[in-house]
Amino acid sequence: MDILSFTEKFFEKYGNRNEKPVLFFSPGRVNLIGEHTDYNGGFVFPCALNFGTYLAIRTVKDKTLRFSTLNFDDDDEVQLANNLSKRGNKWSNYPLGVISEFLKRKISVGGLEMLFYGDVPNGAGLSSSASIEMVTATALNDIYSAGLKTLDLVILSQKAENEFVGMNCGIMDQFAVGFGKKDHAIFLNCDTLDYENVPVNLGNNALIITNTNKRRGLTDSKYNERRSECEKAVELLQSFRPIKNLSELNTDDTGFLEEFIKDPVILKRARHVISENGRVLEAVKVLKENNIRRFGELMNQSHDSLKDDYEVTGNELDTLVYEGRKLPGVTGTRMTGAGFGGCTVSLVEKEHVPGFISGLKSVYQEITGLVPDFYQPEISDGAGRISW
Ligand code: GLA
Repeated sequence: MDILSFTEKFFEKYGNRNEKPVLFFSPGRVNLIGEHTDYNGGFVFPCALNFGTYLAIRTVKDKTLRFSTLNFDDDDEVQLANNLSKRGNKWSNYPLGVISEFLKRKISVGGLEMLFYGDVPNGAGLSSSASIEMVTATALNDIYSAGLKTLDLVILSQKAENEFVGMNCGIMDQFAVGFGKKDHAIFLNCDTLDYENVPVNLGNNALIITNTNKRRGLTDSKYNERRSECEKAVELLQSFRPIKNLSELNTDDTGFLEEFIKDPVILKRARHVISENGRVLEAVKVLKENNIRRFGELMNQSHDSLKDDYEVTGNELDTLVYEGRKLPGVTGTRMTGAGFGGCTVSLVEKEHVPGFISGLKSVYQEITGLVPDFYQPEISDGAGRISW
């Protein structure tokens, strides 16, 4: 995004060229491995991307919050009140939910003019929601000198999404967007919130994201269903061990699961979470050892488990993954994010990238009738102010 033209758009929208807006950027994220583990207190390994959400923001004297976006024609205006409430299915619920969280913390917020622009594809599983929440939280913290730490902003943004928007997500997305570091992935323990930035050196491999471009359908309800299935598993396992989440078990325990979980569906869900945590631990280790071949195998196993045990893939993601694996130079490929559509993440040997893109595009189109998009992202820093 060109900063000058973004500022110009802001002036076209809100006038008063004498007072410049302040600009912020918050990335999207891709998760390399560790899916559906965050709300089970497990391990994840995401990184922030060089595409995300831009915000130009300016304080005004009246008590009005003005929301506008360059992405679509859907402006919104809300009068400030102590009890802000959700506005149907409007996109402005994401920033509004964050403002509401600031107010709940007694941080005084006044009238605001805001212009957003996002270059993360919406609903593609690359955290466009966390990105818009975190860009708002980072901006408010800065312009009102609220003194909140990155972790506060992350927790507050997750809360906005859980309670205001009504999507019961875990903490991975907001955390990755807040704590991203250029050329590093974040190895996060979602139970303790301890984390480590691990350099991502992929040798002769490129990181490729492929968008199924499948329209999102039942993702939220299926997501919540998976969460309750995991809670059920924890309940059933109490007589095995008094655990509070599935991630307290490790791969040595999987042999005992059948004894305590008779429901085959719940059993599979538990098996995925436990095996996925094991894969993240190994993936971080082998990445540090520059063993990208093994990292790719673990990505493949992760997808297989998400397909067979967690059942969150579907024809579009599976087509990209399993047809992708047949192409030369594919080191590893898996779905990323919540699933049911959205994107895959793949490691592809650099010389084979053009063949991967053209080969996968045509076979995917033939099988699903949809045209996929391919991105070759850079791994970037977390949310912050844009200085210029
Ligand atoms: C979505 C949620 C995350 C996480 C992933 C699955 O992206 O927002 O919290 O649960 O799905 O790993």
